[in-house]
Amino acid sequence: MRQSSLVVIANRLPLDDNAAPDGACEWRRSPGGLASALHAILEQTPATWVGWAGGVGPAPALPDMGSLRLRPVSLTEDELRGYYEGFANSTLWPLYHDAVQQPTFDRGWWETYRAVNQRFAEAAAEIAEPGAAIWVQDYHLQLVPAMLRELRPDLLIGFFLHVPFPPPELYMQLPRRVELLRGMLGADLVGFQRPQAAHNVAQLAKKLLGVVATDDAIAVDGRTVRTGAFPVSIDVTEMRALAARPDVVSHARQLRHDLGVPKRVLLSVDRLDYTKGIEHRLTAYSELLRDGFVKVRDTVMVQVAVPSRERVESYQDLRDRIEGEVGRINGEYGRVGEPAIHYLNQPFARSQLAALYQTADVMVVTPLRDGMNLVAKEFIAAREDGAGALVLSEFAGAAAELEQAFLVNPHDVDGLKDTLLQAMKADRGDLTARMTAMRQHLTEHDILAWARAYLTALDHTGQLAERLPANPRPRRRRPPRQRSAR
Ligand code: ADP
Ligand code: G6P
Repeated sequence: MRQSSLVVIANRLPLDDNAAPDGACEWRRSPGGLASALHAILEQTPATWVGWAGGVGPAPALPDMGSLRLRPVSLTEDELRGYYEGFANSTLWPLYHDAVQQPTFDRGWWETYRAVNQRFAEAAAEIAEPGAAIWVQDYHLQLVPAMLRELRPDLLIGFFLHVPFPPPELYMQLPRRVELLRGMLGADLVGFQRPQAAHNVAQLAKKLLGVVATDDAIAVDGRTVRTGAFPVSIDVTEMRALAARPDVVSHARQLRHDLGVPKRVLLSVDRLDYTKGIEHRLTAYSELLRDGFVKVRDTVMVQVAVPSRERVESYQDLRDRIEGEVGRINGEYGRVGEPAIHYLNQPFARSQLAALYQTADVMVVTPLRDGMNLVAKEFIAAREDGAGALVLSEFAGAAAELEQAFLVNPHDVDGLKDTLLQAMKADRGDLTARMTAMRQHLTEHDILAWARAYLTALDHTGQLAERLPANPRPRRRRPPRQRSAR
C-alpha cells in the first residue's frame, strides 16, 4: 500500500458512476459543493483522497487523477441506508440546516454510522505516512477525527464542516450529541464556514463536556482543539476560463435564442434539496405572474434542479411537489411554445453551467439555509461582462461575503417578490458596481486561498500549503471511463 503525507477523507470521491446509454458505467464529476471545491485543488496536489465512489458492493479500482490518488471505500446496501441515507442525510443534514425539514431519529442508524466512520478512519490510518496530515470533511464523518487519534496518535488531524453547525438548542435534540461532539473534537483544528458555528460548538463543549472553551480554542483531554471560520470558495480561474471560451459564449447566445429572446432570464441552479428554498421561490414567481408584475412573453425562469439523494423519501416527496407546482404554473401562465418555467432535472457539464450563468439577467439563489452556496460564487466568476444581478438568501454562508448582492429573507415571500422585481429593474450602472466589488472579493478569496488558509492554520509551518499548486489550471481532461463495480 502506497503511503501519503496528506490524506483527505470525504464521504464522496470527486467521481460518481453513472449508467451510460449502452448500460456501461461512465464516471462523471459528482455535483455538490464539497466535490467541486476539493477537486479543484487536489487534482494537482500530491495527496490521497479516501471516499465512496457511489453505488454498493466491492470498491472499484480507480486510476489516479493527476497527482491525486483515489482510495475508494466500499458500502453495502445496509450501510448505504443506515449511514448515508439515514443518519447522515435524514438526521444530521436536516438538523444542521435549522431543521427546515423534520430530522428523523432512528435508533438503528447510529451503529451503522459509527461502523462506517470506523472503516473510513482505518482506511486513512493504513495509508498515512508517520506524522502525516489528515483532513476529514463534513458531517458524514464526524466521528472520524477521534477514531483516527485513537488509531494513530502521531497524525495531524483537521476537520472541516461544509454545512452549518446548528445553534445549541437544535443540536441538543440529537440522542448521540456527546459522542458526535467528542468525535469532531478529536481533531487538532476544526474549521467551519462561519464564526457563529465555532461559537455554537464552544457553547456546547462547555455545556455537554464541562470543559473550558472559547470561540477559537477548546480544551479537551489535555489537548487544545483550535476552531475557526474558513469560508470555502470556488476555482475562480476555471470558471473565468470556461466563461471566456468562444464555444461557451456562443452557447450562451444560443440558449437565449432558444428561450425566445426574452427581455429577462431568471436562473436558479440547485441540487434538488429542501434546503434550497425552491418551493418558496416558485410561490414568489407564480404570484408575480398572477399579479401581472411579470409577463411570460417578457420574462422566463429557468430552474435547474439536479437529482440528489434520490432514494431518500423526503427528497422524492420534494421532487413530486416541485414538479407538480412547475406543471401548475406552466399550465396556468404558459403559452404554446412559451412555458413560464423551464425546469431541467439533469446534470450539466461545467461548460454548460458557465453558459447558463452568462444567459441569466437575474441569478436567484435563495436557500432557506446553506453552509456556503458555491453556485452564487460561480455565477459571479462567470460574469466577465459585469452584467447580471444576484439575488441571494441571507441564510447562505455566501451572503457574509457577497454583500453587494440583492440580499433577501427567502421565508418572506412578499420580500422575495419585491427583491426579484428590484433586481429585474436595476440599472446597468448599479449592477456593474455590485458585480465589480463581488468579483474583486472572489479573486482574492478563491479555493486556493481557502485551502492555504486552512492548511497553514493546521500545521503552522506553511509546509502543507506548499504542496498546493501555485495557480489552479483550467482542466480540459475528461474523467476516466470504467466499468461499474455494481
Ligand atoms: P451544495 O453543496 O449543497 O450542493 P453548492 O451550491 O455549494 O451546493 O454546490 C453545488 C455544486 O454543484 C456547484 O459547484 C454546482 O456547479 C454544481 N451543480 C449544481 N447543479 C448542477 C448540475 N445540474 N450539474 C452539474 N453540477 C451541478
Ligand atoms: C453538500 C455536502 C457535501 C455533499 C454534497 C452533495 O455539499 O456538504 O458533503 O457531497 O452536498 O451531496 P451528496 O449526498 O450527493 O454527496
